[in-house]
Amino acid sequence: MDIKDKVVVITGAASGIGRGLAERFRAEGAKGLALADIDGDGAAAVAAGLGDAFAMACDVADEAQVQALVAETERRFGPIDVFCSNAGILRLGDEDQPDADIEASWRVNAMSHVYAARAVAPGMAARGSGYLLNTASAAGILIQVDSVAYTMSKHAAIGFAEFLAAKYGPRGVRVSVLCPQGVRTGMTAGRGDKPAFADGVLEPEDVAEAVVRGMAEERFLILPHEIVETYMRRKADDRDRWLRGMARVRQSVVPDR
Ligand SMILES: NC(=O)c1ccc[n+]([C@@H]2O[C@H](COP(=O)([O-])OP(=O)(O)OC[C@H]3O[C@@H](n4cnc5c(N)ncnc54)[C@H](O)[C@@H]3O)[C@@H](O)[C@H]2O)c1
Repeated sequence: MDIKDKVVVITGAASGIGRGLAERFRAEGAKGLALADIDGDGAAAVAAGLGDAFAMACDVADEAQVQALVAETERRFGPIDVFCSNAGILRLGDEDQPDADIEASWRVNAMSHVYAARAVAPGMAARGSGYLLNTASAAGILIQVDSVAYTMSKHAAIGFAEFLAAKYGPRGVRVSVLCPQGVRTGMTAGRGDKPAFADGVLEPEDVAEAVVRGMAEERFLILPHEIVETYMRRKADDRDRWLRGMARVRQSVVPDR
């Protein structure tokens, strides 16, 4: 799908990858841009630099707020062509991390995609066209060695995206899942020494470029770091060997746990 003349919603648009997508989609000629974030002022600041983009405070962990975002976007711009469910959080910790962190990650990193799909996918299918771009992570294909909450929630996000692609693909609704490794954003500030950065840190603009290309080709998996494709194959080829490798990575990141 080409972004030109499309109505696009982006969550987590106040910073990082969401902001990068907003700027790139404006440059690609989106007709309407709705920028949502729990940080409503941050989203408004991004929107202010992007013509007639509109901003809205929205907690994607709250289904009623996602529904309100969709209703307001459609009131202003008409039917939504592209919903980028991108907001996410990273809470570090092992299996003993607090339930509250695991639950928050579950709601923001996984359930938000469910709420978005419920709100827009049936309408897209009825029109025979639409695009769901869900930001997961390479951690959803591999693992995040220092976060159980992130690993579990991002794996769930990919499983859900696969479900959506199988259900809605035949009805004209495209689904892509965005799975970067290290990207220089607020989420990763101060984590430059971690393994996800060993393969090269990308800027949000690089990720936006990969998204525009991936959407043009309507590819399910969008991997801005090509090496992730290799890791994915290694995991599929020999799970035990891959796990031994992940144990070494884990040891290098948190040697004392
Ligand atoms: N930065 C990376 O290295 C990296 C790698 C893989 C995947 N990701 C994913 O990319 C997405 C964007 O993250 P980023 O790196 O741009 O980080 P970021 O922290 O710069 O941006 C995330 C945005 O989401 C917003 N947000 C958080 N909770 C929210 C909620 N409940 N409702 C609405 N908005 C909320 C934040 O306010 C922030 O503006 C996330 O899903 C993240 O997991 C990031």
